[in-house]
Amino acid sequence: MNDTTKNILATCALPYTNGPIHIGHMLEHIQADIWVRNLRLEGKPVFFFCADDTHGTATMIRAEKLNKTPEELIKDDRLSHEESFKKFNISFDNYYTTHSAENKRFCNEIYLSAKQAGLIYKSTIQQYYDQEKNMFLADRFISGTCPKCKTPNQHGDNCEACGSTYSPIELINPISKYSDSKPVLKDTEQIFFDLGATKDFLSQFLTTCSMQDSVKNKLNEWVDGDMQSWNISRDAPYFGFDIPEEQNKFFYVWVDAPIGYFASIQNWANKQGLDFDDLCSKNSNSELHHFIGKDIIYFHGLFWPALLKNSPYLEPTQIHAHGFLSINGEKMSKSKGTFITADDFSEHYDPELLRYYFASKLNNKIEDINFDTSEFIQKINTDIVGKFLNIISRSMPFVKKHNGDIEDISLDTQLLANQTRKLKPLSKLYHEKDYSKVIRLVMESADEINAYININEPWKKDNRDAIYIALTALNAFKNIALALLPVMPNLTTRIFKIIGNFNYTDYETRIVNIDFENYEPLMSRIDDEGFKKMNETITETKNNFASIEDFMKIDLRVAKVIDASAVDGADKLLRLTLDVGELGERIVFGGIKSRYSPESLIDKLVVLVFNLAPRKMRFGLSEGMVLASSDEEGGIFLLSPDNGAKPGQKIK
Ligand code: MSP
Ligand code: ZN
Repeated sequence: MNDTTKNILATCALPYTNGPIHIGHMLEHIQADIWVRNLRLEGKPVFFFCADDTHGTATMIRAEKLNKTPEELIKDDRLSHEESFKKFNISFDNYYTTHSAENKRFCNEIYLSAKQAGLIYKSTIQQYYDQEKNMFLADRFISGTCPKCKTPNQHGDNCEACGSTYSPIELINPISKYSDSKPVLKDTEQIFFDLGATKDFLSQFLTTCSMQDSVKNKLNEWVDGDMQSWNISRDAPYFGFDIPEEQNKFFYVWVDAPIGYFASIQNWANKQGLDFDDLCSKNSNSELHHFIGKDIIYFHGLFWPALLKNSPYLEPTQIHAHGFLSINGEKMSKSKGTFITADDFSEHYDPELLRYYFASKLNNKIEDINFDTSEFIQKINTDIVGKFLNIISRSMPFVKKHNGDIEDISLDTQLLANQTRKLKPLSKLYHEKDYSKVIRLVMESADEINAYININEPWKKDNRDAIYIALTALNAFKNIALALLPVMPNLTTRIFKIIGNFNYTDYETRIVNIDFENYEPLMSRIDDEGFKKMNETITETKNNFASIEDFMKIDLRVAKVIDASAVDGADKLLRLTLDVGELGERIVFGGIKSRYSPESLIDKLVVLVFNLAPRKMRFGLSEGMVLASSDEEGGIFLLSPDNGAKPGQKIK
């Protein structure tokens, strides 16, 4: 654990611009925020930083699609991210952006220090190039057939079907996702960071940086393996920082992203009138703590310290890694309807409840955590409403009924001493991020206080005994509220408005003043209506998209009109006989008579929805549908494949 005299600089991984904050992100931010709040309440000099991770091809392309500049886009995203975090009471000292002057300066400085140390070299490699868009393609903007298992439509660097990873160069039939054209291989000179040359340094780093054992083992395995050099450059066009002393080369987003931690600290230090070097130089009196998900351990445990090796700045003191959040047993995914954004959640439930729920499930392990909606509801109703708040609602009426001073009433010191003993490990448990144990102890204590009320039956006692029992229970309740301060800052603050303020560790000080005027029920039971509503919105948004599977269900074929005739009794319809090559002939009715004469259609190629369920019409069976567009003036335009397409050919 940290040396108590040191500045503790804590960070959460910088969320990508281009998407909303979801409750998976929130797991990390809540975990870190509880840790930070506990230290802050203990009076330690702890400061908490984050920022948006803004650079990369994705931002550039999205901006182009939305007809905005990348700068406009990332500004909007940052505002919305900051708002989401505020709703969940994430107590950053600063939230910044990687697209900042500070960050650019640090990138240059850190890069040049590595270059000076001989860790940077150039090498020519081949990369796919999109000739329509005139740009090199990032791995994720190429798709193709997996070279191992031959499944089509796989990512540029890994296959979802067989799980193998490969270089995009190995892909069969690569396609640019950007323009749908076939990319060509082109030579390009790139800038590499010689990770292998930092092997000894990294081994040493792994002996000094604190982290969970499993993380350390994994990192050591990587260091002991052959560490390939890291390509840290990207060609223009790229939304990012240009590399100094180079032409048209940009830093890969994962270079400037972790450096963004420093940019956020620097930006804050300036506002505070503090000196960044005092805070972050190698010999400063600070600790650097990164909270991250298990997916980005490599970046934080190897690349990041290696980048910092020759810089004047300190390397991470501790890496706090966590597992992934799933929802009702499913991976969070938009297409599965299991994607809950922070804003959606906060519209239907008090965000503090998520803080409590996550706390009750979190420990220091890298295990994945499942968000189970019925468990969530049950936990809140049982623990918070049924146990914790039940104590104040059961004891308050007796205290209220007693009109005199409460200062002179004696308390059951044994119950309170037992409780203090029970809650003693909390500080250590908070430091160790073993929050589920914190919650377990606190709820056991709540159980004990409720049992105390049950056994002593204040309602059967005369006033003097009743107030003794009730006030003892209320003082014990106060201690639970203190213990929960880092987890539920809002609820507990509301409680202290009623029973007076206390220092964080003041279990022994008693309640002397109660603001009965302000006392009202603090919270009522919750139900699953909120999740039902969220599901509806999720399904609605989901239904606006057709998945690739949905699209593949539709069998489109080239067909040739071999006969066309008007239909008696229907002034809009034509009856078409279509040649679908080896698939035979089809009869289709179409409402195109106002635009096309039957003769003009003979031999025309059309697009047929081949597997549309046949529809019985008054004039006969229609075995499919031909595609046409129409405009408001009643114009109809048949879609027609270019000459050369053969009847029966599949369209995709
Ligand atoms: N931008 C990078 C981090 C750069 S840090 C210098 C990134 N962004 S992210 O938005 O994809 O993820 C941000 C953090 O949220 C990461 O630590 C990631 O592990 C975490 N999580 C993203 N989805 C998550 C879950 N479903 N569950 C738990 N944590 C999740 O990576
Ligand atoms: Zn495969």
